[in-house]
Amino acid sequence: MERLEELKTEAAQELEAISNLKELEPWQVRYLGRKSALTQLLRGLAALPLEERKAVGAAANQVKAALEAGWKRKEAALKEIELAGLLGAKPTDVTLPGRPVSLGRLHPTTQTLRQICGIFAGMGFQVVEGPEVEWDYYNFEALNIPQGHPARDMWATFWIDVETEGGERPMLLRTHTSPMQIRIMEKTRPPVRVVVPGKVYRYEATDVTHEAMFYQIEGLAVDKTITMADLKGVLLEFARHLFGQERRVRFRCDYFPFVEPGMEMAIDCLMCQGAGCRLCGHTGWIEILGAGMVHPEVLRRVDYDPEIYTGFAFGMGIERIPMLRYGIDDIRLFYSNDLRFLRQF
Ligand code: DAH
Repeated sequence: MERLEELKTEAAQELEAISNLKELEPWQVRYLGRKSALTQLLRGLAALPLEERKAVGAAANQVKAALEAGWKRKEAALKEIELAGLLGAKPTDVTLPGRPVSLGRLHPTTQTLRQICGIFAGMGFQVVEGPEVEWDYYNFEALNIPQGHPARDMWATFWIDVETEGGERPMLLRTHTSPMQIRIMEKTRPPVRVVVPGKVYRYEATDVTHEAMFYQIEGLAVDKTITMADLKGVLLEFARHLFGQERRVRFRCDYFPFVEPGMEMAIDCLMCQGAGCRLCGHTGWIEILGAGMVHPEVLRRVDYDPEIYTGFAFGMGIERIPMLRYGIDDIRLFYSNDLRFLRQF
C-alpha cells in the first residue's frame, strides 16, 4: 500500500513537469506500460492472502485509473498548447496560390503511333502486334532473304545465342516489323488488311539519326484485285492526313527482297514545300517509307496462290516523323529518359 502511494505521488509529480507531447510517451510507458511497477504489482497480487489481495487490488486499480485520467488530461492539454503554438507562429495564408500537380503525358513516339494507327484504322486496317524476339525464318528466310543472301547486310542484326546442332543462329531481335507479314498470313486467309506497330533493333553505333532500338509500323493488304494504284492511293491519303492536305508524294524504285516492284515514298519538304532547304538536304523531298507489291515468292510461302491474290506492303520508322514535325535533331533524345525533353510534348 505504501509503495502504491509512493508511485502515485512520483507519477503525478513527473507528469506535472512534462511540458510537451514527446516527453509524455516515456512517462506513459514507465507508469502504465506492460513493464511498469504498477503492472508488476498487480501481477504480484495473487501471492497475497485473500483479504489483503482485495484491499491492495482495489487501491491499485484506483491508482491506475487516476494515472490514466491524469495522462489523458495532460495529453489533451499539451495538444491544445501545441495547436495554439502552431496557429500563433505560422499563420496559414489561404490566399497563397496552390502548388500545381504535374500531369503525366504520352511519349512522343506513342502519340505518333496512335495517330498513325488511327489513320489506317480509318481506312479499314486492323492493328496487330508481334514478338520482338524473332526466328530467322520470319525475319529473313520467309521474306525471300535466305541464308547468304547479300540483302541481309541491309539489316545489322543482334543475333541471339540459341543452342543448335548445326551451329546456325536461328533467333534474333527483329530488325524490322516485316516478319509479322508472314505470321499474319500464316494464320489467316485473304482478305488481309493490317498495320503492325512495334519496336525493332539494329546492331549499330548510335548517332543523331541512328538508335539501336526504334519503332516501325508495317502495313499489309492482300486480296484478289489489289494493284499498285491501291498502294499509292492509301499512302497518299496517309501522308495528307499526317502531314497536311496540301502534301505531295513521290514514289521511286527501291529494292527490298520481299516486294516486287519495290519502292520508297517521299513527301515534299515540310519546311520549304519542295524548294530545297537544310531539312531536306536541298532536294525538296523527304523519304519516309519503303513499300511495294508483295513478292509472289512470299505469297507462295504462306500458301496464298499468287495467280489469284496480290497485295501491297509498306514499312516506316516512327521517330523520324516527330523529328520532322518538331525539329528534333537527335534521335537519341527519345529513349534517354530526359524529362526536360519529354515534357515538351
Ligand atoms: N522492312 C523494311 C526495312 O526495315 C521496310 C519495308 C520496305 C517494309 C518495303 C515493307 C516494304 O513492308 O514493302 O527496311
